[in-house]
Amino acid sequence: MSKALAPYPIGIDFGTSSSTAAWIDSNERLRQLEGRDLLPFVPSIVWYGPEDQKRVGWGAQRMLEDDPKNTATDFKRLLGRFFHAPNMKKYTANRAVRTVADVDGYIALDAGIRVQRVEQITSEIYHHIRQLAQAQSHMRFDSAVLTVPTNFGLLQRKAIRQAARSCPWQVKALLNEPTAAAFSFLATQDISGRVLVFDLGGGTLDLTILERRGGSVNILATDGDEFLGGRDLENRVTKWVASEFERKTGFNIFESKVAFERLNESTRRAMHLLDKHSEATIYVPSIGIHQRQIIDLSTIFSRMHLETISAPFMRQIEHTLHNLFTHTGIDIKSVDHVVFVGAATRSPLLRRQVISWTGGASTTDIDPRIAVACGAALVGRHLNTDGLNISYDMVTKDVHLYTNEGLNQKIIPNQTRVPFSTTIRLSAKRHSGHVFIGEYDGDGDESQLTPIGLLEIPQSGFGLRKKDINLCIRLDNTYKLSVSLVDVNGRERPIEVQHPFDISS
Ligand SMILES: Nc1ncnc2c1ncn2[C@@H]1O[C@H](COP(=O)(O)OP(=O)(O)OP(=O)(O)O)[C@@H](O)[C@H]1O
Ligand SMILES: [Mg+2]
Repeated sequence: MSKALAPYPIGIDFGTSSSTAAWIDSNERLRQLEGRDLLPFVPSIVWYGPEDQKRVGWGAQRMLEDDPKNTATDFKRLLGRFFHAPNMKKYTANRAVRTVADVDGYIALDAGIRVQRVEQITSEIYHHIRQLAQAQSHMRFDSAVLTVPTNFGLLQRKAIRQAARSCPWQVKALLNEPTAAAFSFLATQDISGRVLVFDLGGGTLDLTILERRGGSVNILATDGDEFLGGRDLENRVTKWVASEFERKTGFNIFESKVAFERLNESTRRAMHLLDKHSEATIYVPSIGIHQRQIIDLSTIFSRMHLETISAPFMRQIEHTLHNLFTHTGIDIKSVDHVVFVGAATRSPLLRRQVISWTGGASTTDIDPRIAVACGAALVGRHLNTDGLNISYDMVTKDVHLYTNEGLNQKIIPNQTRVPFSTTIRLSAKRHSGHVFIGEYDGDGDESQLTPIGLLEIPQSGFGLRKKDINLCIRLDNTYKLSVSLVDVNGRERPIEVQHPFDISS
């Protein structure tokens, strides 16, 4: 019997380490995905084997130890990124799976029998979640609200849409992760005042500041760091343990990516134990062969070690947090509540730090594993009911228009709400047919301008005036960028936003 169509879009939180989903059922109840053994998520892991075999989620997790070279993990941060882009090396090195540049310069992973694009690997996760959710809900989903790290640029958001397209889903909106979590929290908690949603997951730090007064909610600002997550701290600790081991035994773990991956897994488990214990053992049996002997790694790791090693990591978090407050002119001490989201916020050390930076705000606990997906499902219901023009979220990077002739104009400022549209006038003198669209990372220094699209503007026709050209630029709820020419009578003609090329390779 064919399943009934779900009344609202499914909400999906694709995470660096684990992914989950939530939906509203036909009785208007919010439901969550069950991954395994009552755990509400599936690991974001995909294993590719011979003859096109594949395992996704829990099935792939056990392949991490058996066949790490063909098991893709932590790939979210590689979505929509160029292989040769500055800074990417540190995220592609030290992986058991070989990373390569695809024909168009984007990062791909060499796993199984072929090179897999990161969007393709991501779509395996979406497919898997869709199958599970449909089996558990007895409904069919044809649309989705997807969540993304705050600091994902427009190319990364495009890669997410492409990954979802093969499901096939109509993507109703992309939401920044902490903003989605905020909607989930607001639906269940009766709290008013200024709220900081602090979401530290495996791969990204995501922050949203909002205010609730009476019945109204105002999202004030959102930002984050897409390269700062629990995985980075784990890597840092793993490197420290590996160096200590080499100092004591002479065995170099860094030479084997597989040994490093196994040590990383064990380090992670030990770090989680330190939430409740003052010491934990990191143990990797048969980590390698040294001087013709099989050797084990076993070491005691303490909270004191963790505090020392995590100091630079904490400083980076503090920097991102203060940047957001400073740039938006909001006093960090004015925060009344902190909502912790993301499993890495279980660390008591981290919680203490965040509370002290805010000058002692109270904290609210929601289930950090499902808050983001639940918020996405709730927004999906609003969108279906109230239409697509409601604004829930905002961009986190400045978008510029520029030409080889020196034009450089900000067209969408950081913190602009979507959906968004603007009309800009270009002087015909200052372009030669080609106009680029780019995004600034960081503080707007020229080297941090990433091209995200190319426009070929006709030199004449379509009622163009001699001296200027009017362009209408739009961003919809899914952060899809569209551009059209506007003639003197206000009629529009779309211009294709061509995909950028890898200029660094
Ligand atoms: N008890 C714990 N104490 C400290 N850290 C933990 C604990 N449990 C999980 N973590 C860490 O939290 C991170 C995973 O968090 P989470 O599942 O929220 O991430 P994610 O949603 O997959 O990633 P992201 O949102 O960054 O894309 C991992 O680095 C994991 O090791
Ligand atoms: Mg997350």
